[in-house]
Amino acid sequence: MKQYIHALFSDILGKMYTAGKLSVLPVVELSVPDAQFGDYATNVALRLAKQLGQSPQEIAEKLAVELKSFDIQHRFSEIASVGGFINFTVSKEFLLQNMKAVLDQGELYGSSVAGQGKKVLVEYFQPNVAKPLHLGHISNAVVGDALFHILKSQGYKTESDTHLGDWGTQFGLLLLAYKKYGDFNIIEKNPIDELNKLYVQINTEIESNPEIREQGKQEFVKLEQGDTENRKLWEQFREWSWQEYDIIYSQLGVRKADHDWPESFYEDKMPAVIDELKQKGLLIESQGAQIVPLEDYKLGTAVVIKSDSGTTYLLRDLATYIYRQQQGFEKQLYIIDVRQQHQLAQTFKILELMGHIKAPQDAVHIAYGFLKLPEGAMSSRKGTIIQAGEFIKSVQEKALEIINEKNPDLKDKESVAKQVASGAIKYFQLSHNLKSDIVFDPAKVISFEGNTGPYLQYTHARIHGIKRKAGGEIDISQIFDDKITISEQESAVLRKLMQFQETLETVTIEYTPNLLCNYLFELAQNFNSFYQAIPVTQETDEQLKAFRLQLITATAQVINNGLYVLGIQAPEEM
Ligand code: ARG
Repeated sequence: MKQYIHALFSDILGKMYTAGKLSVLPVVELSVPDAQFGDYATNVALRLAKQLGQSPQEIAEKLAVELKSFDIQHRFSEIASVGGFINFTVSKEFLLQNMKAVLDQGELYGSSVAGQGKKVLVEYFQPNVAKPLHLGHISNAVVGDALFHILKSQGYKTESDTHLGDWGTQFGLLLLAYKKYGDFNIIEKNPIDELNKLYVQINTEIESNPEIREQGKQEFVKLEQGDTENRKLWEQFREWSWQEYDIIYSQLGVRKADHDWPESFYEDKMPAVIDELKQKGLLIESQGAQIVPLEDYKLGTAVVIKSDSGTTYLLRDLATYIYRQQQGFEKQLYIIDVRQQHQLAQTFKILELMGHIKAPQDAVHIAYGFLKLPEGAMSSRKGTIIQAGEFIKSVQEKALEIINEKNPDLKDKESVAKQVASGAIKYFQLSHNLKSDIVFDPAKVISFEGNTGPYLQYTHARIHGIKRKAGGEIDISQIFDDKITISEQESAVLRKLMQFQETLETVTIEYTPNLLCNYLFELAQNFNSFYQAIPVTQETDEQLKAFRLQLITATAQVINNGLYVLGIQAPEEM
Protein backbone atom coordinates (compact mmCIF):
# COMPACT_ATOMS: atom_id res chain seq x y z
CA MET A 1 0.00 0.00 0.00
CA LYS A 2 2.80 2.41 0.86
CA GLN A 3 4.23 1.76 -2.58
CA TYR A 4 0.91 2.55 -4.13
CA ILE A 5 0.69 5.89 -2.29
CA HIS A 6 4.25 6.70 -3.27
CA ALA A 7 3.36 6.04 -6.88
CA LEU A 8 0.40 8.44 -6.67
CA PHE A 9 2.67 11.12 -5.28
CA SER A 10 5.37 10.61 -7.83
CA ASP A 11 2.84 11.05 -10.62
CA ILE A 12 1.56 14.32 -9.20
CA LEU A 13 4.79 15.79 -7.88
CA GLY A 14 6.61 14.65 -11.02
CA LYS A 15 4.20 16.71 -13.10
CA MET A 16 4.70 19.75 -10.87
CA TYR A 17 8.44 19.28 -11.14
CA THR A 18 8.57 19.07 -14.92
CA ALA A 19 6.26 22.09 -15.13
CA GLY A 20 8.90 23.99 -13.17
CA LYS A 21 6.73 24.62 -10.14
CA LEU A 22 9.07 22.63 -7.93
CA SER A 23 12.83 22.88 -7.87
CA VAL A 24 13.34 19.84 -5.63
CA LEU A 25 11.21 16.79 -5.10
CA PRO A 26 10.50 16.16 -1.42
CA VAL A 27 10.68 12.69 0.11
CA VAL A 28 7.21 11.46 0.94
CA GLU A 29 7.22 9.83 4.34
CA LEU A 30 4.22 7.88 5.45
CA SER A 31 3.15 7.17 8.99
CA VAL A 32 0.38 5.09 10.45
CA PRO A 33 -1.71 7.54 12.47
CA ASP A 34 -4.37 6.95 15.13
CA ALA A 35 -7.37 5.23 13.59
CA GLN A 36 -9.45 8.42 13.61
CA PHE A 37 -7.04 9.98 11.11
CA GLY A 38 -7.22 7.15 8.63
CA ASP A 39 -4.71 4.42 7.82
CA TYR A 40 -1.78 6.44 6.48
CA ALA A 41 -0.71 10.04 6.83
CA THR A 42 2.01 12.27 5.46
CA ASN A 43 3.29 15.73 6.29
CA VAL A 44 4.69 16.31 2.82
CA ALA A 45 2.60 19.47 2.39
CA LEU A 46 4.41 21.03 5.35
CA ARG A 47 7.66 20.47 3.57
CA LEU A 48 6.40 21.81 0.24
CA ALA A 49 5.12 25.02 1.81
CA LYS A 50 8.41 26.89 1.61
CA GLN A 51 9.15 25.93 -1.97
CA LEU A 52 5.71 26.88 -3.20
CA GLY A 53 5.25 29.90 -0.98
CA GLN A 54 1.81 28.72 0.05
CA SER A 55 0.33 27.59 3.33
CA PRO A 56 0.55 23.86 4.14
CA GLN A 57 -3.25 23.69 4.48
CA GLU A 58 -3.75 25.07 1.01
CA ILE A 59 -1.27 22.63 -0.50
CA ALA A 60 -2.63 19.66 1.41
CA GLU A 61 -6.14 20.45 0.23
CA LYS A 62 -5.12 20.70 -3.41
CA LEU A 63 -3.01 17.58 -3.25
CA ALA A 64 -5.82 15.62 -1.60
CA VAL A 65 -8.11 16.43 -4.51
CA GLU A 66 -5.51 15.44 -7.08
CA LEU A 67 -4.59 12.26 -5.24
CA LYS A 68 -8.21 11.21 -5.29
CA SER A 69 -8.42 11.55 -9.05
CA PHE A 70 -5.23 9.54 -9.46
CA ASP A 71 -6.48 6.71 -7.20
CA ILE A 72 -7.91 4.74 -10.10
CA GLN A 73 -7.87 1.48 -8.14
CA HIS A 74 -10.21 3.04 -5.57
CA ARG A 75 -8.10 1.93 -2.70
CA PHE A 76 -9.19 4.89 -0.59
CA SER A 77 -12.60 5.92 0.56
CA GLU A 78 -11.20 9.19 1.76
CA ILE A 79 -8.12 11.32 1.21
CA ALA A 80 -8.46 14.30 3.50
CA SER A 81 -6.35 17.24 4.55
CA VAL A 82 -6.26 18.03 8.23
CA GLY A 83 -4.03 20.81 9.51
CA GLY A 84 -1.52 20.46 6.70
CA PHE A 85 -1.44 16.67 6.92
CA ILE A 86 -2.86 14.41 4.26
CA ASN A 87 -4.70 11.41 5.65
CA PHE A 88 -5.65 8.31 3.70
CA THR A 89 -8.49 6.03 4.68
CA VAL A 90 -8.48 2.66 2.97
CA SER A 91 -11.74 1.70 1.30
CA LYS A 92 -13.91 -1.17 2.37
CA GLU A 93 -13.51 -2.56 -1.11
CA PHE A 94 -9.77 -2.78 -0.71
CA LEU A 95 -9.99 -4.23 2.82
CA LEU A 96 -12.23 -6.97 1.47
CA GLN A 97 -9.87 -7.63 -1.40
CA ASN A 98 -7.06 -7.94 1.07
CA MET A 99 -8.99 -10.43 3.18
CA LYS A 100 -9.51 -12.46 0.05
CA ALA A 101 -5.79 -12.32 -0.63
CA VAL A 102 -5.13 -13.76 2.84
CA LEU A 103 -7.50 -16.64 2.17
CA ASP A 104 -6.19 -17.29 -1.33
CA GLN A 105 -2.52 -17.09 -0.46
CA GLY A 106 -2.79 -18.96 2.83
CA GLU A 107 0.63 -19.71 4.26
CA LEU A 108 2.25 -17.51 1.65
CA TYR A 109 0.38 -14.41 2.70
CA GLY A 110 2.88 -11.86 3.99
CA SER A 111 5.83 -13.28 2.10
CA SER A 112 7.51 -11.27 -0.60
CA VAL A 113 10.31 -11.41 -3.14
CA ALA A 114 11.91 -8.17 -1.96
CA GLY A 115 15.13 -9.98 -1.02
CA GLN A 116 15.59 -11.01 -4.66
CA GLY A 117 17.16 -14.30 -3.72
CA LYS A 118 20.17 -12.61 -2.20
CA LYS A 119 22.19 -15.14 -0.21
CA VAL A 120 22.26 -14.34 3.50
CA LEU A 121 24.09 -16.26 6.17
CA VAL A 122 22.58 -16.16 9.64
CA GLU A 123 25.00 -17.30 12.31
CA TYR A 124 23.35 -18.32 15.57
CA PHE A 125 23.44 -20.79 18.41
CA GLN A 126 27.21 -21.04 18.63
CA PRO A 127 27.75 -23.22 21.69
CA ASN A 128 31.18 -24.21 22.92
CA VAL A 129 32.13 -27.87 22.98
CA ALA A 130 31.95 -29.57 26.39
CA LYS A 131 30.23 -26.60 28.02
CA PRO A 132 26.72 -26.79 29.46
CA LEU A 133 23.95 -24.83 27.75
CA HIS A 134 22.33 -22.04 29.72
CA LEU A 135 19.68 -19.37 29.28
CA GLY A 136 21.93 -17.27 27.03
CA HIS A 137 21.98 -20.07 24.46
CA ILE A 138 18.21 -20.09 24.46
CA SER A 139 18.07 -16.34 23.79
CA ASN A 140 20.54 -16.64 21.00
CA ALA A 141 18.92 -19.62 19.27
CA VAL A 142 15.47 -18.06 19.50
CA VAL A 143 16.52 -14.72 18.03
CA GLY A 144 18.53 -16.34 15.26
CA ASP A 145 15.79 -18.75 14.31
CA ALA A 146 13.24 -15.94 14.08
CA LEU A 147 15.45 -13.71 11.95
CA PHE A 148 16.27 -16.66 9.74
CA HIS A 149 12.59 -17.31 9.00
CA ILE A 150 11.70 -13.63 8.71
CA LEU A 151 14.36 -12.93 6.09
CA LYS A 152 13.51 -16.10 4.25
CA SER A 153 9.86 -15.06 4.05
CA GLN A 154 10.95 -11.80 2.42
CA GLY A 155 12.72 -13.44 -0.46
CA TYR A 156 16.27 -13.81 0.84
CA LYS A 157 18.01 -17.10 0.34
CA THR A 158 18.90 -17.67 3.97
CA GLU A 159 21.19 -20.37 5.30
CA SER A 160 22.41 -20.85 8.84
CA ASP A 161 25.71 -21.74 10.47
CA THR A 162 26.50 -22.69 14.06
CA HIS A 163 30.14 -21.63 14.21
CA LEU A 164 30.71 -24.16 16.96
CA GLY A 165 33.40 -23.19 19.48
CA ASP A 166 35.62 -26.26 19.27
CA TRP A 167 39.13 -24.83 19.08
CA GLY A 168 41.61 -23.06 21.32
CA THR A 169 43.83 -23.54 24.35
CA GLN A 170 40.90 -24.41 26.58
CA PHE A 171 40.63 -27.73 24.76
CA GLY A 172 44.28 -28.41 25.59
CA LEU A 173 43.41 -27.86 29.23
CA LEU A 174 40.39 -30.10 28.96
CA LEU A 175 42.46 -32.82 27.30
CA LEU A 176 45.00 -32.56 30.09
CA ALA A 177 42.28 -32.73 32.76
CA TYR A 178 40.70 -35.72 31.08
CA LYS A 179 44.00 -37.56 30.98
CA LYS A 180 44.79 -36.70 34.60
CA TYR A 181 41.46 -37.38 36.28
CA GLY A 182 38.93 -38.48 33.71
CA ASP A 183 37.07 -41.78 33.90
CA PHE A 184 35.28 -42.70 30.70
CA ASN A 185 32.63 -44.79 32.42
CA ILE A 186 31.60 -41.98 34.71
CA ILE A 187 31.78 -39.26 32.09
CA GLU A 188 29.81 -41.21 29.54
CA LYS A 189 26.75 -41.21 31.80
CA ASN A 190 26.55 -37.43 32.02
CA PRO A 191 29.21 -36.15 29.64
CA ILE A 192 28.79 -32.39 29.60
CA ASP A 193 28.48 -31.93 33.35
CA GLU A 194 31.40 -34.23 33.98
CA LEU A 195 33.62 -32.57 31.38
CA ASN A 196 32.71 -29.21 32.81
CA LYS A 197 33.72 -30.43 36.26
CA LEU A 198 37.07 -31.53 34.88
CA TYR A 199 37.56 -28.13 33.31
CA VAL A 200 36.77 -26.33 36.56
CA GLN A 201 39.09 -28.67 38.43
CA ILE A 202 42.06 -28.04 36.14
CA ASN A 203 41.52 -24.30 36.32
CA THR A 204 41.53 -24.43 40.10
CA GLU A 205 44.77 -26.35 39.97
CA ILE A 206 46.32 -23.73 37.71
CA GLU A 207 45.77 -21.11 40.40
CA SER A 208 48.29 -22.79 42.67
CA ASN A 209 50.43 -24.30 39.94
CA PRO A 210 50.75 -22.09 36.83
CA GLU A 211 52.90 -24.68 35.09
CA ILE A 212 49.79 -26.71 34.41
CA ARG A 213 48.71 -24.07 31.92
CA GLU A 214 51.87 -24.71 29.90
CA GLN A 215 51.12 -28.42 29.87
CA GLY A 216 47.61 -27.67 28.68
CA LYS A 217 48.93 -25.50 25.89
CA GLN A 218 51.17 -28.34 24.83
CA GLU A 219 48.17 -30.66 24.63
CA PHE A 220 46.50 -28.17 22.32
CA VAL A 221 49.62 -27.96 20.15
CA LYS A 222 49.53 -31.75 19.90
CA LEU A 223 45.89 -31.56 18.88
CA GLU A 224 46.70 -28.98 16.23
CA GLN A 225 49.46 -31.22 14.91
CA GLY A 226 47.07 -34.13 14.57
CA ASP A 227 48.16 -36.31 17.49
CA THR A 228 46.01 -39.44 17.22
CA GLU A 229 44.99 -39.76 20.87
CA ASN A 230 44.13 -36.08 21.32
CA ARG A 231 42.28 -36.03 18.07
CA LYS A 232 40.20 -39.01 19.08
CA LEU A 233 39.33 -37.57 22.48
CA TRP A 234 38.45 -34.23 20.96
CA GLU A 235 36.14 -35.96 18.48
CA GLN A 236 34.50 -37.71 21.41
CA PHE A 237 33.96 -34.40 23.22
CA ARG A 238 32.38 -32.99 20.10
CA GLU A 239 30.09 -35.97 19.73
CA TRP A 240 28.92 -35.73 23.35
CA SER A 241 28.29 -32.06 22.87
CA TRP A 242 26.13 -32.59 19.81
CA GLN A 243 23.97 -34.92 21.88
CA GLU A 244 23.53 -32.09 24.36
CA TYR A 245 22.44 -29.66 21.64
CA ASP A 246 19.35 -31.73 21.14
CA ILE A 247 17.94 -29.65 24.01
CA ILE A 248 17.87 -26.65 21.73
CA TYR A 249 17.02 -28.41 18.51
CA SER A 250 14.39 -30.81 19.62
CA GLN A 251 13.15 -29.61 23.04
CA LEU A 252 12.99 -25.93 22.15
CA GLY A 253 12.24 -26.64 18.49
CA VAL A 254 14.94 -24.73 16.70
CA ARG A 255 15.93 -25.41 13.13
CA LYS A 256 19.18 -27.38 12.72
CA ALA A 257 21.94 -25.34 11.13
CA ASP A 258 22.54 -25.80 7.42
CA HIS A 259 26.29 -25.55 7.87
CA ASP A 260 28.65 -26.90 10.42
CA TRP A 261 31.72 -24.78 9.93
CA PRO A 262 33.16 -24.82 13.44
CA GLU A 263 36.04 -22.70 14.64
CA SER A 264 38.50 -25.55 13.95
CA PHE A 265 37.46 -25.42 10.30
CA TYR A 266 39.27 -22.10 9.91
CA GLU A 267 42.58 -23.33 11.26
CA ASP A 268 44.08 -23.76 7.78
CA LYS A 269 42.39 -20.65 6.39
CA MET A 270 44.13 -18.18 8.68
CA PRO A 271 47.59 -18.00 7.04
CA ALA A 272 46.06 -16.65 3.83
CA VAL A 273 44.34 -13.90 5.82
CA ILE A 274 47.67 -12.93 7.40
CA ASP A 275 49.23 -12.75 3.95
CA GLU A 276 46.44 -10.60 2.67
CA LEU A 277 46.65 -8.24 5.67
CA LYS A 278 50.38 -7.88 5.10
CA GLN A 279 49.99 -7.36 1.41
CA LYS A 280 47.45 -4.61 2.02
CA GLY A 281 49.79 -2.95 4.48
CA LEU A 282 47.42 -3.25 7.40
CA LEU A 283 49.50 -5.34 9.77
CA ILE A 284 52.02 -3.79 12.15
CA GLU A 285 54.42 -5.41 14.57
CA SER A 286 54.08 -4.14 18.12
CA GLN A 287 55.87 -5.64 21.14
CA GLY A 288 56.19 -8.96 19.37
CA ALA A 289 52.51 -9.09 18.43
CA GLN A 290 50.92 -8.46 15.03
CA ILE A 291 48.27 -5.78 15.26
CA VAL A 292 46.00 -3.58 13.19
CA PRO A 293 45.83 -0.09 14.68
CA LEU A 294 42.25 1.15 14.71
CA GLU A 295 42.62 4.22 16.92
CA ASP A 296 41.60 6.43 13.99
CA TYR A 297 38.21 4.78 14.14
CA LYS A 298 38.03 4.89 17.94
CA LEU A 299 38.31 1.13 18.02
CA GLY A 300 41.63 0.76 19.81
CA THR A 301 44.15 -1.84 18.75
CA ALA A 302 43.18 -5.13 17.20
CA VAL A 303 45.54 -7.98 18.03
CA VAL A 304 45.67 -10.46 15.18
CA ILE A 305 48.58 -12.61 16.35
CA LYS A 306 49.67 -12.65 19.99
CA SER A 307 53.26 -12.12 21.06
CA ASP A 308 53.56 -15.87 21.77
CA SER A 309 52.61 -16.29 18.08
CA GLY A 310 49.22 -17.76 19.00
CA THR A 311 46.34 -16.90 16.70
CA THR A 312 43.40 -14.92 18.01
CA TYR A 313 39.64 -15.17 18.02
CA LEU A 314 39.63 -12.05 15.87
CA LEU A 315 41.81 -13.62 13.20
CA ARG A 316 39.52 -16.61 13.12
CA ASP A 317 36.57 -14.28 12.63
CA LEU A 318 38.30 -12.56 9.72
CA ALA A 319 38.85 -15.93 8.07
CA THR A 320 35.25 -16.87 8.80
CA TYR A 321 33.75 -13.85 7.10
CA ILE A 322 35.98 -14.18 4.05
CA TYR A 323 35.29 -17.88 3.65
CA ARG A 324 31.55 -17.40 3.89
CA GLN A 325 31.70 -14.54 1.45
CA GLN A 326 33.53 -16.81 -0.97
CA GLN A 327 30.61 -19.22 -0.64
CA GLY A 328 28.41 -16.53 -2.19
CA PHE A 329 26.89 -14.97 0.92
CA GLU A 330 26.31 -11.29 0.22
CA LYS A 331 25.18 -10.55 3.74
CA GLN A 332 26.07 -12.08 7.10
CA LEU A 333 24.13 -11.68 10.32
CA TYR A 334 25.88 -12.45 13.58
CA ILE A 335 23.60 -13.19 16.50
CA ILE A 336 25.99 -12.64 19.38
CA ASP A 337 25.43 -11.19 22.82
CA VAL A 338 26.15 -7.57 23.42
CA ARG A 339 29.43 -8.20 25.28
CA GLN A 340 31.22 -8.98 22.03
CA GLN A 341 30.26 -5.70 20.40
CA HIS A 342 33.75 -4.18 20.47
CA GLN A 343 35.39 -7.34 19.21
CA LEU A 344 32.96 -7.53 16.31
CA ALA A 345 33.23 -3.83 15.48
CA GLN A 346 37.00 -4.34 15.14
CA THR A 347 36.48 -7.38 12.93
CA PHE A 348 34.08 -5.55 10.63
CA LYS A 349 36.33 -2.49 10.41
CA ILE A 350 39.34 -4.57 9.37
CA LEU A 351 37.24 -6.41 6.79
CA GLU A 352 36.17 -3.03 5.47
CA LEU A 353 39.79 -1.85 5.25
CA MET A 354 40.63 -5.07 3.44
CA GLY A 355 37.87 -4.32 0.95
CA HIS A 356 35.66 -7.29 1.82
CA ILE A 357 32.87 -5.39 3.52
CA LYS A 358 31.58 -2.72 1.17
CA ALA A 359 28.51 -1.47 2.98
CA PRO A 360 27.37 -1.56 6.60
CA GLN A 361 24.52 -3.91 5.75
CA ASP A 362 26.95 -6.58 4.47
CA ALA A 363 27.82 -7.63 8.02
CA VAL A 364 25.48 -6.97 10.90
CA HIS A 365 25.91 -7.72 14.54
CA ILE A 366 22.53 -8.46 16.04
CA ALA A 367 23.37 -7.83 19.66
CA TYR A 368 20.95 -9.08 22.28
CA GLY A 369 20.65 -8.60 26.00
CA PHE A 370 20.35 -11.34 28.56
CA LEU A 371 17.64 -13.40 30.02
CA LYS A 372 17.77 -12.94 33.76
CA LEU A 373 15.70 -14.46 36.49
CA PRO A 374 13.82 -12.29 38.99
CA GLU A 375 16.48 -13.35 41.54
CA GLY A 376 19.15 -11.55 39.51
CA ALA A 377 21.86 -12.26 36.99
CA MET A 378 23.27 -15.74 36.60
CA SER A 379 26.68 -16.40 37.97
CA SER A 380 28.64 -19.60 37.66
CA ARG A 381 30.53 -18.73 40.82
CA LYS A 382 27.36 -18.46 42.86
CA GLY A 383 26.03 -21.58 41.22
CA THR A 384 23.05 -19.69 39.82
CA ILE A 385 23.60 -20.71 36.21
CA ILE A 386 20.28 -21.90 34.91
CA GLN A 387 20.83 -24.82 32.61
CA ALA A 388 18.84 -24.66 29.40
CA GLY A 389 17.50 -28.21 29.63
CA GLU A 390 16.19 -27.90 33.19
CA PHE A 391 14.67 -24.57 32.41
CA ILE A 392 12.77 -25.76 29.35
CA LYS A 393 11.59 -28.80 31.26
CA SER A 394 10.19 -26.68 34.07
CA VAL A 395 8.25 -24.51 31.63
CA GLN A 396 6.94 -27.64 29.90
CA GLU A 397 5.68 -28.95 33.23
CA LYS A 398 3.91 -25.65 33.93
CA ALA A 399 2.32 -25.72 30.50
CA LEU A 400 1.06 -29.25 31.06
CA GLU A 401 -0.39 -28.25 34.42
CA ILE A 402 -2.34 -25.41 32.83
CA ILE A 403 -3.61 -27.59 30.01
CA ASN A 404 -4.71 -30.23 32.51
CA GLU A 405 -6.71 -27.57 34.24
CA LYS A 406 -8.17 -25.85 31.20
CA ASN A 407 -8.72 -28.72 28.82
CA PRO A 408 -8.21 -32.08 30.53
CA ASP A 409 -9.65 -34.07 27.61
CA LEU A 410 -7.29 -32.67 25.01
CA LYS A 411 -5.61 -35.27 22.81
CA ASP A 412 -1.78 -35.32 22.66
CA LYS A 413 -1.51 -33.18 25.77
CA GLU A 414 2.22 -33.71 26.13
CA SER A 415 2.99 -32.61 22.63
CA VAL A 416 0.74 -29.55 22.88
CA ALA A 417 2.35 -28.66 26.22
CA LYS A 418 5.72 -28.81 24.52
CA GLN A 419 4.53 -26.47 21.76
CA VAL A 420 3.05 -24.07 24.30
CA ALA A 421 6.17 -24.09 26.45
CA SER A 422 8.55 -23.38 23.62
CA GLY A 423 6.14 -20.84 22.15
CA ALA A 424 6.02 -19.10 25.52
CA ILE A 425 9.78 -18.98 25.92
CA LYS A 426 10.41 -17.85 22.36
CA TYR A 427 7.72 -15.21 22.36
CA PHE A 428 8.88 -13.80 25.67
CA GLN A 429 12.36 -13.31 24.30
CA LEU A 430 11.18 -11.95 20.96
CA SER A 431 8.55 -9.56 22.28
CA HIS A 432 11.17 -7.52 24.09
CA ASN A 433 13.50 -5.05 22.51
CA LEU A 434 16.54 -7.17 21.63
CA LYS A 435 18.99 -4.81 23.22
CA SER A 436 17.47 -4.84 26.68
CA ASP A 437 18.14 -7.41 29.35
CA ILE A 438 15.05 -9.41 30.02
CA VAL A 439 13.85 -10.52 33.42
CA PHE A 440 12.40 -13.90 32.86
CA ASP A 441 9.46 -14.37 35.18
CA PRO A 442 8.11 -17.89 34.54
CA ALA A 443 4.58 -16.96 35.63
CA LYS A 444 4.39 -14.13 33.10
CA VAL A 445 5.91 -16.19 30.31
CA ILE A 446 3.37 -18.94 30.48
CA SER A 447 0.43 -16.64 31.14
CA PHE A 448 -2.50 -17.01 28.74
CA GLU A 449 -3.24 -13.31 29.06
CA GLY A 450 -1.44 -10.22 27.82
CA ASN A 451 1.24 -9.99 25.17
CA THR A 452 2.44 -13.59 25.49
CA GLY A 453 2.99 -16.58 23.23
CA PRO A 454 0.27 -18.68 24.88
CA TYR A 455 -2.25 -15.84 24.46
CA LEU A 456 -1.63 -15.81 20.72
CA GLN A 457 -1.59 -19.58 20.43
CA TYR A 458 -4.79 -19.69 22.44
CA THR A 459 -6.49 -17.07 20.26
CA HIS A 460 -5.47 -19.06 17.20
CA ALA A 461 -6.80 -22.32 18.69
CA ARG A 462 -9.97 -20.54 19.77
CA ILE A 463 -10.67 -19.49 16.19
CA HIS A 464 -10.20 -23.06 15.05
CA GLY A 465 -12.63 -24.07 17.78
CA ILE A 466 -15.23 -21.68 16.38
CA LYS A 467 -14.65 -23.07 12.92
CA ARG A 468 -15.09 -26.61 14.20
CA LYS A 469 -18.32 -25.54 15.86
CA ALA A 470 -19.51 -24.04 12.59
CA GLY A 471 -19.03 -27.51 11.10
CA GLY A 472 -17.83 -28.34 7.64
CA GLU A 473 -15.35 -26.50 5.52
CA ILE A 474 -15.41 -22.72 5.40
CA ASP A 475 -16.33 -21.50 1.94
CA ILE A 476 -13.54 -19.13 1.00
CA SER A 477 -14.61 -18.72 -2.60
CA GLN A 478 -17.59 -16.49 -1.87
CA ILE A 479 -16.76 -12.88 -2.66
CA PHE A 480 -18.19 -9.96 -0.71
CA ASP A 481 -18.50 -6.47 -2.06
CA ASP A 482 -18.82 -3.20 -0.23
CA LYS A 483 -22.57 -3.55 0.10
CA ILE A 484 -22.02 -5.80 3.07
CA THR A 485 -22.48 -4.17 6.46
CA ILE A 486 -19.29 -4.13 8.45
CA SER A 487 -19.16 -3.16 12.10
CA GLU A 488 -16.43 -1.08 13.62
CA GLN A 489 -14.96 -4.15 15.28
CA GLU A 490 -14.84 -6.08 12.02
CA SER A 491 -13.32 -3.14 10.28
CA ALA A 492 -10.59 -2.96 12.91
CA VAL A 493 -9.69 -6.61 12.26
CA LEU A 494 -9.69 -6.08 8.49
CA ARG A 495 -7.39 -3.06 8.85
CA LYS A 496 -5.00 -4.98 11.07
CA LEU A 497 -4.84 -7.82 8.57
CA MET A 498 -3.81 -5.30 5.95
CA GLN A 499 -0.82 -4.16 8.04
CA PHE A 500 0.83 -7.58 8.21
CA GLN A 501 2.93 -7.30 5.06
CA GLU A 502 4.25 -3.86 5.91
CA THR A 503 5.04 -4.89 9.45
CA LEU A 504 7.09 -7.79 8.13
CA GLU A 505 8.93 -5.45 5.77
CA THR A 506 9.90 -3.15 8.62
CA VAL A 507 10.94 -6.03 10.86
CA THR A 508 13.15 -7.39 8.08
CA ILE A 509 14.94 -4.11 7.54
CA GLU A 510 15.29 -3.18 11.21
CA TYR A 511 15.78 -6.66 12.71
CA THR A 512 13.06 -5.96 15.26
CA PRO A 513 10.95 -9.07 15.85
CA ASN A 514 9.33 -7.29 18.81
CA LEU A 515 7.39 -5.14 16.33
CA LEU A 516 5.93 -8.27 14.81
CA CYS A 517 4.95 -9.47 18.29
CA ASN A 518 3.22 -6.16 18.98
CA TYR A 519 1.41 -6.43 15.70
CA LEU A 520 0.19 -9.96 16.41
CA PHE A 521 -0.90 -8.99 19.89
CA GLU A 522 -2.97 -6.11 18.50
CA LEU A 523 -4.50 -8.35 15.88
CA ALA A 524 -5.48 -10.88 18.54
CA GLN A 525 -6.94 -8.11 20.69
CA ASN A 526 -8.91 -6.74 17.75
CA PHE A 527 -10.19 -10.20 17.06
CA ASN A 528 -11.17 -10.83 20.66
CA SER A 529 -13.09 -7.53 20.93
CA PHE A 530 -14.86 -8.38 17.71
CA TYR A 531 -15.75 -11.86 18.89
CA GLN A 532 -17.04 -10.59 22.20
CA ALA A 533 -19.42 -8.14 20.55
CA ILE A 534 -20.53 -9.86 17.37
CA PRO A 535 -22.06 -13.29 16.79
CA VAL A 536 -20.40 -15.63 14.32
CA THR A 537 -21.83 -19.14 14.40
CA GLN A 538 -25.06 -17.79 15.95
CA GLU A 539 -25.59 -15.24 13.19
CA THR A 540 -28.85 -15.91 11.35
CA ASP A 541 -28.13 -13.85 8.25
CA GLU A 542 -26.38 -16.39 6.04
CA GLN A 543 -24.31 -13.82 4.19
CA LEU A 544 -23.05 -12.12 7.32
CA LYS A 545 -22.24 -15.47 8.86
CA ALA A 546 -20.29 -16.51 5.78
CA PHE A 547 -18.37 -13.24 5.82
CA ARG A 548 -17.52 -13.51 9.50
CA LEU A 549 -16.33 -17.06 9.08
CA GLN A 550 -14.00 -15.85 6.36
CA LEU A 551 -12.83 -13.01 8.55
CA ILE A 552 -11.91 -15.29 11.44
CA THR A 553 -10.28 -17.77 9.07
CA ALA A 554 -8.11 -15.00 7.67
CA THR A 555 -7.25 -13.88 11.20
CA ALA A 556 -6.16 -17.36 12.23
CA GLN A 557 -4.09 -17.58 9.05
CA VAL A 558 -2.23 -14.37 9.75
CA ILE A 559 -1.59 -15.30 13.39
CA ASN A 560 -0.30 -18.64 12.16
CA ASN A 561 1.94 -17.02 9.53
CA GLY A 562 3.26 -14.47 12.02
CA LEU A 563 4.02 -17.08 14.66
CA TYR A 564 5.63 -19.29 12.04
CA VAL A 565 8.25 -16.72 11.11
CA LEU A 566 8.95 -16.24 14.80
CA GLY A 567 9.67 -19.97 14.97
CA ILE A 568 6.52 -20.68 17.00
CA GLN A 569 4.00 -23.41 16.34
CA ALA A 570 0.29 -22.72 16.42
CA PRO A 571 -1.70 -25.79 17.50
CA GLU A 572 -5.32 -25.90 16.35
CA GLU A 573 -6.53 -27.09 19.69
CA MET A 574 -5.19 -26.48 23.17
N1 ARG B 1 31.24 -19.43 20.76
C1 ARG B 1 31.45 -18.04 21.03
C2 ARG B 1 31.20 -17.75 22.51
O1 ARG B 1 30.60 -18.53 23.19
C3 ARG B 1 30.53 -17.17 20.23
C4 ARG B 1 30.85 -17.19 18.78
C5 ARG B 1 30.39 -15.96 18.13
N2 ARG B 1 30.63 -15.97 16.71
C6 ARG B 1 31.65 -15.40 16.12
N3 ARG B 1 31.69 -15.46 14.81
N4 ARG B 1 32.57 -14.79 16.79
O2 ARG B 1 31.61 -16.73 22.99
